[in-house]
Amino acid sequence: MFDMTINQESQPSGCLQMNSLDEWVAYCRSFAAEGKCADYIPALANTNPSELGVCIIRPDGTVIKSGDWNAFFTLQSISKVFSFMAACIGRGISYVLERVDVEPTGDPFNSIIRLEMHKPGKPFNPMINAGAITVSSLLPGESPQDKLDFLLKLLENMLGKRPAINEEVFRSEWKTAHRNRALAYYLKETGYLELEVEDALEVYLKQCSIQVNSEDIAMIGLILAHDGCHPIRKEQLIPKEVARLTKSLMLTCGMYNSSGKFAAFVGIPAKSGVSGGIMALVPPRNRNEVPFQDGCGIGIYGPAIDEYGNSLAGVMLLRHMAEKWDLSIF
Ligand code: DON
Repeated sequence: MFDMTINQESQPSGCLQMNSLDEWVAYCRSFAAEGKCADYIPALANTNPSELGVCIIRPDGTVIKSGDWNAFFTLQSISKVFSFMAACIGRGISYVLERVDVEPTGDPFNSIIRLEMHKPGKPFNPMINAGAITVSSLLPGESPQDKLDFLLKLLENMLGKRPAINEEVFRSEWKTAHRNRALAYYLKETGYLELEVEDALEVYLKQCSIQVNSEDIAMIGLILAHDGCHPIRKEQLIPKEVARLTKSLMLTCGMYNSSGKFAAFVGIPAKSGVSGGIMALVPPRNRNEVPFQDGCGIGIYGPAIDEYGNSLAGVMLLRHMAEKWDLSIF
């Protein structure tokens, strides 16, 4: 197993002397005070903002955990990765891409502005709300429940267990999802939504309320790192083209209007959610002597978020890990 200690030469100047993942977590946790939990979803407002946990899974099955790695949280926008993959698997990549583009916006995740400014109003990408609500409506199945079942089945295939939906979080957001309703009505009018507005919102908000811990998303990150193949079970669970397309979207759009900064200073595909989760991955690399040369999946949880909707301490921890372990793909 890779030695988690770091040598003294690689210590950042003017920074704490940190020698282990536990110390990195403890150090980054202190920055959570600069963020705040996503209180626009009332059920998330009472979360403990100072939690921070990480889980890393390597392709040989080694699991490295630290901090609050076992805390449960809802996927929120991380679910957009899974609904996109499920829609591509069920309806075909070209069908999905006729209805949602693959261009970053540089706008906040719930922005409505580009739908009207760029005719005919095709959502820019599946990681912003406009694109994700459209994708939820494209999932195979007639009813909202059929569509959710298709998505949950994909997750069950990857995790070996069916994750639960946190009904309290769902009901809480359902009542306050005014902006998402506005987006859905707009998408209905322009013809991109394949469901009635309330049905599309039910699928979208329930997928956001799927409950996981950091180990679950690290596992899915690992499968994506290996182009859709479960490296331990040696099974291709996601078609390679779908996995690669998804990773490119994570890299360019996964951290919203800080995706550029994240690519520049962390340099790995990642997707965040407002509940504080981040799913990240390191693909196998040809460089000699680098840690995690065969790639890994990374799950992070830290519920205090920044102005972009990303876990503040989580991004800091990922940045530190990327720097110390030379994780950047660039
Ligand atoms: O649509 C919403 O507002 C949420 N349920 C999901 C948003 C989200 O997680 C954005 N992420 N950083």
